[in-house]
Amino acid sequence: MINKALYVTEDVQFVIRDDLHHKSVTPNELLIETRYSGANPADIKHATLLGIRPTVIGYDFAGRVLKAPLASDFKEGDAVAGYTPSSLGRPTKYGSHQSSLAVPCDMVFKIPSNLPEVHAAALTSSVMTAADVVHNLFKFPLPSNPGDSSDPVLIWGASSTVGLSALQLARASSCRNIFVTASPTRHDILRSLGATHAFDYSSATVVAEITAAVKALGKGPITHALDAAGTEGRPSSADLMVQSVSESTVLCSVVLRPGSTFQMPVALAKDVWRIHPPDAQEPLRIPARPADHWNAWTVLHWAITNYGTKFKLPSVSVLDVTAEEALGELFRIQNGKRGFGKVVFQHPLK
Ligand SMILES: NC(=O)c1ccc[n+]([C@@H]2O[C@H](COP(=O)([O-])OP(=O)(O)OC[C@H]3O[C@@H](n4cnc5c(N)ncnc54)[C@H](OP(=O)(O)O)[C@@H]3O)[C@@H](O)[C@H]2O)c1
Repeated sequence: MINKALYVTEDVQFVIRDDLHHKSVTPNELLIETRYSGANPADIKHATLLGIRPTVIGYDFAGRVLKAPLASDFKEGDAVAGYTPSSLGRPTKYGSHQSSLAVPCDMVFKIPSNLPEVHAAALTSSVMTAADVVHNLFKFPLPSNPGDSSDPVLIWGASSTVGLSALQLARASSCRNIFVTASPTRHDILRSLGATHAFDYSSATVVAEITAAVKALGKGPITHALDAAGTEGRPSSADLMVQSVSESTVLCSVVLRPGSTFQMPVALAKDVWRIHPPDAQEPLRIPARPADHWNAWTVLHWAITNYGTKFKLPSVSVLDVTAEEALGELFRIQNGKRGFGKVVFQHPLK
């Protein structure tokens, strides 16, 4: 079988390769035949903005186990999904946008019957990131042991996949007042997933509308706010969010923001993450937070077990496209131009 792969070179060219083969894996890894790979803004941005190249791009996947260590919980033929490691020097075998890949056994789950395979391919990076925000950085109770809070919280850009996930985790954690921003056409779906107050982020009066609604609610200031859009520009999604909250609000943004105002979640906190942004003299080292990682992993498993009832991604589209077309889609996704809904690619790419 030809392994068609989306590859980024050291000098940041995105190309198609069909000469990479990953027959051998280490004793703690599975070899996977990819059936679907999930598209994320990170697939392009980690190469262009964080220096993770050369490599095969992509993190999320669903597929069949081709080879498994005897001592693992997996066997040949299992239908599995998960995501793959990231750091400077990332081996090509870990890219998910290719026909076969390798993945450490502890980054994989078996797909249960309540979770459609294409949704499984779309889930892991976004839910792990949202869980890191809601249950590690915000320290909200786990969905398996919820609390009861009337403190207002805000999710800016709640119709992004990370935002949708954070919204449902906040609801499951028993937040009773969840403010969101999104395009007006998304407000009904967001309300059905737990939002109690919805605002249009592109309204010229959005900041005033939110502050007035918080005051009218009478439950005190917004205690926690997540920028789940991660847009740049002036104002950025984070700038508008800060204007809508109070000085005491705990702030997170899904992207690196200069200064110490915002905490940044990560999708994968079990290992040290080494990156090299273009403006940094030296590579940066994001420390591992293994306890937080495994806390988020239990939340991912809660989402998997309760998929379709207490948690879901409302829109997942399968694209059966050429490798060139897949690259085009990834560029539209990384700059936010593709809009609502998650995309997964069917493999092998044409
Ligand atoms: N730190 C990490 O480990 C990590 C992990 C995953 C993702 N991320 C980052 O998180 C962000 C979201 O990723 P994703 O995959 O969840 O995105 P996505 O699903 O592709 O998000 C698409 C949605 O973003 C919303 N949006 C676009 N511009 C917006 C703006 N100016 N304000 C508010 N919302 C806006 C749109 O909502 P409407 O339809 O309502 O207009 C659109 O539907 C990206 O910046 C990504 O790089 C970070």
